[in-house]
Amino acid sequence: MAQVITSADQIDFTVDDRPSMPLPTEVLMVRPLHYSVDYVINPHMADQVGKVDKIEANNEWNLVRSLFDQIGMNINVIEDQEGLPDMVFCANQSLPYIDEDGNTHVFMSIMHADERKDEVPYIEQWYRQNGYKIHYLDEDKINDFEGCGDAIWHTGKRLLWGGYGYRSSLEAYETISDTFDVPILALELVDESFYHLDTCLCVLDEHTALIYPDAFTEEGLEMINKMFDKVIHASKYEAEKLFACNASCPDGRNVIIQQGCTDVNKNLRDHGFSVHEVSTYQFLKSGGSVFCMKMLLW
Ligand code: ARG
Repeated sequence: MAQVITSADQIDFTVDDRPSMPLPTEVLMVRPLHYSVDYVINPHMADQVGKVDKIEANNEWNLVRSLFDQIGMNINVIEDQEGLPDMVFCANQSLPYIDEDGNTHVFMSIMHADERKDEVPYIEQWYRQNGYKIHYLDEDKINDFEGCGDAIWHTGKRLLWGGYGYRSSLEAYETISDTFDVPILALELVDESFYHLDTCLCVLDEHTALIYPDAFTEEGLEMINKMFDKVIHASKYEAEKLFACNASCPDGRNVIIQQGCTDVNKNLRDHGFSVHEVSTYQFLKSGGSVFCMKMLLW
């Protein structure tokens, strides 16, 4: 039965109550040979059309890839396609899941912007080749859903956080909760600079999150504060200009994050995390950083 939760008083379980889910071992990345800013579909892209340095972008992407490799993840690479300049942001086209029997599943996204809709079949092909059971949302009933841009697994738990408002519809979470048999904590996003949940919430481990508080409603903040013992706040500058909350912590220990997030990084280290800084400046121009440049899988 679907369980989509929109306020703290509806939460009748603790994080510890939720069954555990294996940590991801695999990373999927899309090589950015055709990456550029060709259109404007989020505020970060305004004024950046045509301004990506492609060679630099490739260098940055290779360094991001090598950091995931260094922390022990297996890397899978798909080639990008001409005419799909945002395909590198492969957090967005799907939401993968591993069930209690170890079978892998995926929901394919319904991209909000027409410019990105053709990315989905290329990513779907990879899942097909890799034995995933593929699920679809009903396009007649659901307007949009942008995968792990908005749907973020609570580290190590059968529990999902779901952002909605700009790129994903609340209704999508009913189907997903029902199919994957997991509760979903739905968070409304209220600042268009933070248009995906992965721009304002980073789940670091079972008990710790990094957030940009002003991107959420009061109800949303209450849910976050109820479920995490420790909540680190990013400043507006580090969250909006450096995408601090778009970091990735696949193992609950190592955090890969855009270079220069000084206050957040100190906080992360004080909380015992290992911080790995990397430049993603060319990707910030498009409104993305480390988290959106990969998909975590099993
Ligand atoms: N230009 C892309 C878009 O607006 C960036 C996507 C970044 N991805 C993310 N998960 N925040 O769709």
